[in-house]
Amino acid sequence: MSRSGKDRDTRVKTAKKRTASSTRWLQRQLNDPYVKQAKADGYRSRAAYKLSELDDKYSLLKGVTRVVDLGIAPGGWAQVVRKRAPKAAIVGIDLLPTEPIDGVTIFEMDFLDDAAPALLEEALGGPPELVLSDMAANTVGHKQTDHLRTMGLVEAGAWFAIETLAPGGTYLAKVLAGGTDTALLTLLKTHFRSVKHAKPPASRKDSSEWYVIAAGFKGRAEG
Ligand SMILES: C[S@@+](CC[C@H](N)C(=O)[O-])C[C@H]1O[C@@H](n2cnc3c(N)ncnc32)[C@H](O)[C@@H]1O
Repeated sequence: MSRSGKDRDTRVKTAKKRTASSTRWLQRQLNDPYVKQAKADGYRSRAAYKLSELDDKYSLLKGVTRVVDLGIAPGGWAQVVRKRAPKAAIVGIDLLPTEPIDGVTIFEMDFLDDAAPALLEEALGGPPELVLSDMAANTVGHKQTDHLRTMGLVEAGAWFAIETLAPGGTYLAKVLAGGTDTALLTLLKTHFRSVKHAKPPASRKDSSEWYVIAAGFKGRAEG
């Protein structure tokens, strides 16, 4: 996608009640080519392009029949899955409400709730080939705390993937600061044949988010 067009950038006047950082956020949002493209393509989030780009590179969605989307709201990733794997069963969960998407079962609840994994599994009706996690903890502004909280979600997603995936399946998760920590990396390498990190072009350069792609699930007996 072209990033040109600087001269056409929209300028945001600073409203009295808007803080400097929210003005910066709004300005960047208004001038972001992915935000514009998402509107044109009917995607609910610019995040849709991160999954599209990761799929272009790693063929994550090829032939999948069951997909779990952790942190589904507002639904951009699920729209991409629906489009690229039209027959796949999709089950998602989020703390926030998500507008319905055709053929997608959505739970509005905390993935860390003890009841959540069984509900997702039951709704899917069989083992997924792909578990996606774009979950991000609400940041509190304290770097270590934010990192630990988000990595806690990644780890919970990893265990869910290990407990539910079909052999050969993939776990894709958003991670922070260049990758996974050693314990999580060891866990993933034990259960998956390949573990890679990627930063798709749609992921902002100044954001510390990356994605980990654990592919080739070895199966529960082998792990
Ligand atoms: C970056 S957004 C996901 C965007 C989504 N992939 C899309 O394309 O529209 C991250 C989501 O993770 C959700 N989230 C964070 N913690 C969660 C938790 N414990 N359980 C469920 N969802 C959670 C947030 O509410 C938020 O909607």
